[in-house]
Parts: sequence; structure tokens; C-alpha cells
Amino acid sequence: MIAKIYRFDPGKDSQGHYDSYEVDITAEDRMTVMDLLQYIFDNLDGSLGFFSHSACQHGICGRCGVKVNGKACLACEKVLTGEDVVIDPLGQPVVRDLVVRR
Ligand code: FES
Repeated sequence: MIAKIYRFDPGKDSQGHYDSYEVDITAEDRMTVMDLLQYIFDNLDGSLGFFSHSACQHGICGRCGVKVNGKACLACEKVLTGEDVVIDPLGQPVVRDLVVRR
């Protein structure tokens, strides 16, 4: 599957852009969007910014909110189907990539 992810670095970009990552995931893997983001961070692009550390990972704190294919969800709960996804930050202002000020 292809994960197209919004990227924004206020120190480098005047506006955001998308980076695409090809990841071998199927529905049987039962990976969440958070698992996907962590996989990309660990294996493909360590510069990706997203909420993970000190977040609950159980749908309680709400810190991991993102938009997947235009729909708001919690990254720690949204299970991937193996279809391509577009992941955007949820809300404004964007601090960096998928991290927004709350
Ligand atoms: S990490 Fe807390 S709701 Fe997702």
C-alpha cells in the first residue's frame, strides 16, 4: 500500500507538501495508523513528526487524532485495510507534519 502523508517543517517549508511511502501491509496484519506511522518512523523516515510518545495508545487521550482519507479518527484505533491512505493533521495550527497545537 501507499501512505501519502502531509509534511510540514516550519523551519524549512513555507507551506506543506506530501511524501509517499510504500509499505507492505494487508488487512490480515491488523495494523493501526499509529503502527504504520511508527513503522515509517523506525524504518523509512525518522524525520516524520506524529504524536506517539506519552500518548495512551488506547483511544483515551485523543492526542493521536489525524485525518485518514479526509475523515477524522484516532491513529491508535483506526485499523488499516491495505488500501492506499492519505494522512493529514487534524486541526490547526500545524506544529510539524501531523502534530498540531491543542
Ligand atoms: S494515543 Fe491516546 S487516543 Fe490515541
